[in-house]
Amino acid sequence: MDLFGRDLIVTQEWTLDELKATLELAAEMKRERFHPRFTKTLEHKTFFMFFYNPSVRTRQSFECAATELGGHAQFLQPEGMRLKTATTAGETIEDAAKVMSRYAVGIGIRILEDKVPSYGAGNELLREYARWADIPIINMADDRFHPCQGLADIMGWAEWFGGGPGRPDYEKLHGRNFLLTWASGALARSWCSVQEALIIASRFGMNVTVARPEGYDLDPQVYAWTQANCEANGAAFRTTSDPDGGYEGAHVVYSRNWVTPQAYQDGEFKKAAEQQKSASYSGWTTNAARMARTDNGIFTHPMPVDRGLEVTDEVASGPRSAIYDIAENRLHVQKAVMALTMGKI
Ligand code: CP
Repeated sequence: MDLFGRDLIVTQEWTLDELKATLELAAEMKRERFHPRFTKTLEHKTFFMFFYNPSVRTRQSFECAATELGGHAQFLQPEGMRLKTATTAGETIEDAAKVMSRYAVGIGIRILEDKVPSYGAGNELLREYARWADIPIINMADDRFHPCQGLADIMGWAEWFGGGPGRPDYEKLHGRNFLLTWASGALARSWCSVQEALIIASRFGMNVTVARPEGYDLDPQVYAWTQANCEANGAAFRTTSDPDGGYEGAHVVYSRNWVTPQAYQDGEFKKAAEQQKSASYSGWTTNAARMARTDNGIFTHPMPVDRGLEVTDEVASGPRSAIYDIAENRLHVQKAVMALTMGKI
């Protein structure tokens, strides 16, 4: 499988075989974390991590990933780069991307909803970098997608239903029931992680239910992809506005707050208004009683968790919670992505 030079913007743009090859390498890297086969993959090479927004997992796991592959990850922020924006003079993306391509072997970019004037503008910025850069652009979470999170999620679920850590079985996910439920929360969350989860769960043959209050639907393009992926796999996709609606028989429960499609007004992300709207709904927290209605389901979340609102402590820290395994998997899937797209393996 030759993925050298490929961008990773959203998992839907990679074939299933490409995703499986990446996940297979990630599992191998998890089992044999410091095997010499991997530790020189990026020797003497630099990966740029360009962050418009803060992060715990993404920055730390990419930095560790570069180190473990024998390379180096350099942290960049737009404040330090004199870039041209809609309101300021400066360097164009074309020039920045071409120069960065002369130094590094790949560029990761994170730009979330509060740094752009309209939905999709963050993803467009990544695609503009991809247009001009001669090296891979890796989406470290934009306002639409979070492919590295999606890969870590599916690997974690396949480990839980397969052979355990480092031994995922993706066939075991076929026909299982995935519930993505909107949840109460104070953080006015992005659509990127939940959208990526819908795409990848449906891609791997899971039945998908989205439970959300009326008015909290996600990107129609993502619903269309999810529907098409489900149809291709003989699986079902449905939505419900009942907060209890999808727990019965669920195998994977993913609860997460997210904003409405009206989050942008007059070219601004209205976080306070979204927080207020979200607070007007109650009864959308994943708890032990709801998990008891699942088919011995696991709890999943990309983190950071808004404990007490998105999910109770009892569930988030309980024996069927996959959250730390999945956070760990960010490291392994990103090592695999970097090795395949930027390294020699
Ligand atoms: N899940 C995730 O991307 O976490 P961070 O925002 O901490 O990077």
